[in-house]
Amino acid sequence: MRFSLVSLCLATLTTATPASKTGLTDQWKDFSNTCTDLTLLNDGRTLGAACTDNQSKGIFSTFELALCVGMDYKTCELDWSYLGKFTNYCSNCTLKGSSLHCTCDGGRSGPHNSSLDLNQNIGNDDALLGERGVLCPY
Ligand SMILES: *[C@@H]1O[C@H](CO)[C@@H](O)[C@H](O)[C@H]1NC(C)=O
Ligand SMILES: *[C@@H]1O[C@H](CO)[C@@H](O)[C@H](O)[C@H]1NC(C)=O
Ligand SMILES: *[C@@H]1O[C@H](CO)[C@@H](O)[C@H](O)[C@H]1NC(C)=O
Repeated sequence: MRFSLVSLCLATLTTATPASKTGLTDQWKDFSNTCTDLTLLNDGRTLGAACTDNQSKGIFSTFELALCVGMDYKTCELDWSYLGKFTNYCSNCTLKGSSLHCTCDGGRSGPHNSSLDLNQNIGNDDALLGERGVLCPY
């Protein structure tokens, strides 16, 4: 399993193009417009933020990123994918603004830094972060 992943990454590393998948309504974007204090918990697997609910009250909310973020095996880039479990392949993750930055397994060419803007597919609905995202309709 691990071996074949590394091989695939090696085979296509030079043609890397970040994949961007959408398919959610606009409501499920741009959570950082209405959330503050963005943070990563659980070794980077979980997004936390203080999000405004429909009554303009700030509520701390979390979202399990590993449910919807993975690593594209062809490009070794962070990507949206159902049960993607990116932390199996990527580590040392940090947030810069709304972007997730990690060091991912790049096969024989060594560690590879990748980033993904979480605003692409995570929204704030009444202080629930990415509730639709739990269904991961990518
Ligand atoms: C992660 O960060 C630690 C501490 O800075 C460093 O020692 C380690 O090499 C890093 N791992 C990767 C895969 O970059
Ligand atoms: C990845 O990013 C970290 C932190 O910015 C940096 O220290 C490291 O040298 C980078 N690694 C690669 C392979 O570019
Ligand atoms: C919160 O407001 C949004 C936008 O107006 C709306 O779509 C959503 O249904 C509301 N949620 C609740 C639980 O009232």
